[in-house]
Amino acid sequence: MPPSLFSRLFGSSPSEFKLQINTPELTVTAQAKESLLLAALNQGIALPYNCRVGGCGECKCRLVSGKVKELTDKSYLLSAEELKQNYILACQSLPKSDVVIEVALRQGQVNHPIVETSARITALKPLTHDILHVQMEAEQPLSYTAGQYAEIVIPDAAESAAGQGRSYSFATAHDPARPHAVDFFIRKVAHGAFTEWLFTKAERGQLLQLRGPYGDFCLRPGDSPLVCIAGGSGLAPVKALLEQAIKDKQGNRPLVLLFGARTKQDLYGLDAIDQIRREWTGRFVFEPILSNEAASSTWAGRKGLITDHLKALLGERLPDYQAYMCGPPPMIDACVEVFTQGGMPASQIFFDKFLDSGHTAHPKP
Ligand SMILES: Cc1cc2nc3c(=O)[nH]c(=O)nc-3n(C[C@H](O)[C@H](O)[C@H](O)COP(=O)(O)OP(=O)(O)OC[C@H]3O[C@@H](n4cnc5c(N)ncnc54)[C@H](O)[C@@H]3O)c2cc1C
Ligand code: FES
Repeated sequence: MPPSLFSRLFGSSPSEFKLQINTPELTVTAQAKESLLLAALNQGIALPYNCRVGGCGECKCRLVSGKVKELTDKSYLLSAEELKQNYILACQSLPKSDVVIEVALRQGQVNHPIVETSARITALKPLTHDILHVQMEAEQPLSYTAGQYAEIVIPDAAESAAGQGRSYSFATAHDPARPHAVDFFIRKVAHGAFTEWLFTKAERGQLLQLRGPYGDFCLRPGDSPLVCIAGGSGLAPVKALLEQAIKDKQGNRPLVLLFGARTKQDLYGLDAIDQIRREWTGRFVFEPILSNEAASSTWAGRKGLITDHLKALLGERLPDYQAYMCGPPPMIDACVEVFTQGGMPASQIFFDKFLDSGHTAHPKP
């Protein structure tokens, strides 16, 4: 696009551009300060994505024409061939001109309107020494599918690292009777910009900014057995997903629920899991697995890593299960390897990795 007379005279750059996705009919407006992914999602086009922070590669698309500013180094996620073909990460690319991209749009992606609203903290309850149950009341109502997440921003920190917003999965199934209520389980991350603030400065009554819902981690219909795996605060979306399954009459599916924690003190939410067990009509197996429990402990349950127990718990039917996992990326990577080696098709494996800036921050040199 040639520069306008105004910008030639005054040197300012335009604040919005056109973003064409595959065909001219799918053209939206993209603000100069917003990623191509957000521009598309905000205008109802379901580009594929997962983490939105440059860590998963799900949002890759081919830049056919135009210029973008890339926020992070994509070479960690894209193959040499993709780099040669001009692939970019839509979540990490800001438009610098009108842009045309090519991307395989997903069918049937979860699609609720994205709401941007302020939300007041109504309760902060410790669940363990490093996990808080954060309850909030959003100013505007929002709907979401269990398993999805929202982005939280501290308003006063707009210019700081945490001002970019952080992703947190909804910890309960959506209740249409309480469309303003949202709950999160948030784990403290050492030196983490947002969680250090949350654990030391946040108070009941404070206002935060909330955007969402995002993500497509949600229960797929069917009658195959389920294996659900939660690590630490990853219990939030798994619990929400199972609560929703009961509401949707899918609680008759055989379920193996595994909850990984370091020690007995790191287990929480057991009452909520027991409630799910009481309402689940199908076979229900729950196994907490502790990776760091002292040898002298009276703990009689399973110990070690979740991957140590998967084959024994799922048996010969392992390839028939649908797997749903949330939590630390290494836990998910290790479980995916066991599942795929055991013959489970990739199309039956779903997860949200709780990536943070430590995993994703590879700023462009
Ligand atoms: C889809 C999704 C859902 C999620 N849901 C949840 C949830 O329900 N509950 C939950 O607890 N968490 C969840 N997370 C993780 C969450 O979004 C945050 O990443 C996490 O809380 C840490 O945020 P923070 O601001 O405290 O830490 P950050 O500021 O992001 O820092 C994290 C770590 O990285 C280090 N770091 C920061 N910058 C760099 C750098 N440039 N180079 C190297 N290291 C660096 C920091 O020192 C720190 O140790 C989710 C993440 C995703 C992607
Ligand atoms: S959504 Fe862009 S890299 Fe994950």
